Amino acid sequence: MPKDPDYFRGKTIVITGAASGIGRAAALIFAREGANVLCADINGEGAARAAGEVDEAGGCGESVRVDVTSRRSVEAMVDRAKDRFGRIDFQFNSAGGAIRRSEFLEIDDDLWDRTYGLNVKGVFYCMQAVLPEMLKNGKGVIVNMASMAHKRGGPGVDIHYASAKGSVVTMTLGVAREFAARGIRCLSISPGPVDTPFQSILPPELRERSRDNVPMKRFGRPEEIGEMVLFMCSDACEFMTADTVFISGGGGFR
Ligand SMILES: NC(=O)c1ccc[n+]([C@@H]2O[C@H](COP(=O)([O-])OP(=O)(O)OC[C@H]3O[C@@H](n4cnc5c(N)ncnc54)[C@H](O)[C@@H]3O)[C@@H](O)[C@H]2O)c1
Repeated sequence: MPKDPDYFRGKTIVITGAASGIGRAAALIFAREGANVLCADINGEGAARAAGEVDEAGGCGESVRVDVTSRRSVEAMVDRAKDRFGRIDFQFNSAGGAIRRSEFLEIDDDLWDRTYGLNVKGVFYCMQAVLPEMLKNGKGVIVNMASMAHKRGGPGVDIHYASAKGSVVTMTLGVAREFAARGIRCLSISPGPVDTPFQSILPPELRERSRDNVPMKRFGRPEEIGEMVLFMCSDACEFMTADTVFISGGGGFR
């Protein structure tokens, strides 16, 4: 929660991956606070639906189809937010995923490149596109989606994904420290398993195993991550930058 209850009113956030799961939940939480939300996703219809829900929830929604693996597409997304809302205060880079699960020896070049394209290059392009605007304003917060997987390593299922998320944590740290003195904060979140389509596509035994590994014996809810994004962007969190925050029901390794 912000210290000033009107802190988010009229401020603008760009959210990638906003059509589904954690990105969509965050969009609705910022809408509740009266923010302008650019809902961006490769699923353009889903992004438009989310923008409609933002309007209904008290914010001002706009949507754009973006492929975060394309620099041009990401730049067009940032231009859209500036044209529609005048400035950008926050960016939440939620688009990401494991593409598919694989044992380490079965990971081929295509899976490796696509996973890094989506999770690493995507975040890299999004931050490079928005930073000039935030630097011009002298203020801005970027929140990147990492994963608890970066601490566990993903043995047997997704070392390609876990290592890509490790790169997100490191990029976040570097960007935060490079721009800290110029009004920019940059943070990442490392969730344990969260109940979204990302989990529901897993085979039932893998889903059960990942839930049983959580001491609370349940998946996180997407809103439980979205509220952390709100806090990180708020005036209640102004001395925090560079770090990743684990939200995992007590699970994983630190
Ligand atoms: N759900 C979990 O258990 C969990 C745990 C840790 C981290 N994460 C991370 O959280 C983020 C959100 O995942 P989620 O659980 O909400 O999954 P999700 O599948 O519900 O949402 C991911 C969204 O990203 C979009 N997307 C995929 N490729 C894209 C691209 N190239 N350009 C733009 N958008 C694209 C999808 O269309 C989808 O709407 C991801 O980065 C994921 O790796 C999820």
